[in-house]
Amino acid sequence: MQTLLLKADNPADVETAARILRGGGLVGMPTETVYGLAANALDAEAVAKIFVAKGRPQDNPLIVHISQWEQIFPLVRRVPESAKKLAGAYWPGPMTMVLEKSGRIPDVTSAGLPTVGIRFPSHPAARALISAAGVPVAAPSANISGFPSTTTAEHVMRDMGGKIDAVLDGGPCGVGVESTIVTLASDPPRLLRPGGVTLEQLRAVLGRVDVDGAVMNPLPKGARPLSPGMKYKHYSPKANVIILNGSERAYLDYVNAHREPGVAALCYRGEEKALRVPAVCYGAETDCREQARELFEALRRLDDIGAKTVYARCPEPRGVGLAVYNRLMRAAGFEVVSVG
Ligand code: TXA
Ligand code: MG
Repeated sequence: MQTLLLKADNPADVETAARILRGGGLVGMPTETVYGLAANALDAEAVAKIFVAKGRPQDNPLIVHISQWEQIFPLVRRVPESAKKLAGAYWPGPMTMVLEKSGRIPDVTSAGLPTVGIRFPSHPAARALISAAGVPVAAPSANISGFPSTTTAEHVMRDMGGKIDAVLDGGPCGVGVESTIVTLASDPPRLLRPGGVTLEQLRAVLGRVDVDGAVMNPLPKGARPLSPGMKYKHYSPKANVIILNGSERAYLDYVNAHREPGVAALCYRGEEKALRVPAVCYGAETDCREQARELFEALRRLDDIGAKTVYARCPEPRGVGLAVYNRLMRAAGFEVVSVG
């Protein structure tokens, strides 16, 4: 299949992408978090194609994207007060709410769960595409399952070219990591995946919000997580990533003492000058939003330069740093070395 490259700033191209969605096809869709692999969420056959194109396990549910608040009502059994408050504060934006689903959501979309994740993205191209399609849109991240998410149209073409109908190029994603997922189907609400809307921001609206164990820790063998995606290895480049925990000085010394073929560094901007191995930077040490925006591109670049072992810097798990920490820990398979 030839994959069309469409431009989000061209209204005719947005209409072409919308027509593909209405016809049951797949479109790479820009959002403010990462690119999504979009299909009509209400069309079970179209949604099934997403799982094939990504090589995604069938038991991993998809997020359903809307472009107007009112679109939520037919998709869920009820909209609790807490959902209205969160939506008022953070929608449109990088946050997904898990709610009890209605009968309109096909089982393939929710992977057989009684709940569904709903997201109202803020990216103008995502909103334009969903509106033009006239249907809610199911979209996982547009990467091959298990690999880093895609944050540019070029990444989507590389992973999905030949397997999907079109990619709508809306430029690089501003947030860079996937949306915050909070479930309101449990009481108290629970953070399932950290993202651009922080835990602190959720608590400012909801009061108590618990943090699912899978956010900070590896899952015990055989455990069934609340969010099925948490049990899969994720965000992984081909290289073996190891997080070094300690000061900048200790990090630099450790990496420079391990100069071997295939060793590379994933460091903060500026640190590369003091490193004697190939280095890829992802943001400034003091700016977690910048780290989030650059992380997945950096992980992909490490594969491009042929890194086999990557020593990574990792931020404190606070604010948006919690999302960066969560993705890097997974990319590293929770391998952390203390360097003092
Ligand atoms: O920012 C995002 O959320 C991006 C863009 C495209 O919107 N989408 C995204 O989708 O990251 P995906 O499929 O890569 O990750 C969705 C995660 C998975 O870990 C899945 O298991 C979880 O959300 N999930 C989806 N529906 C759920 C539900 N009903 N209950 C619990 N977890 C759910
Ligand atoms: Mg994903």
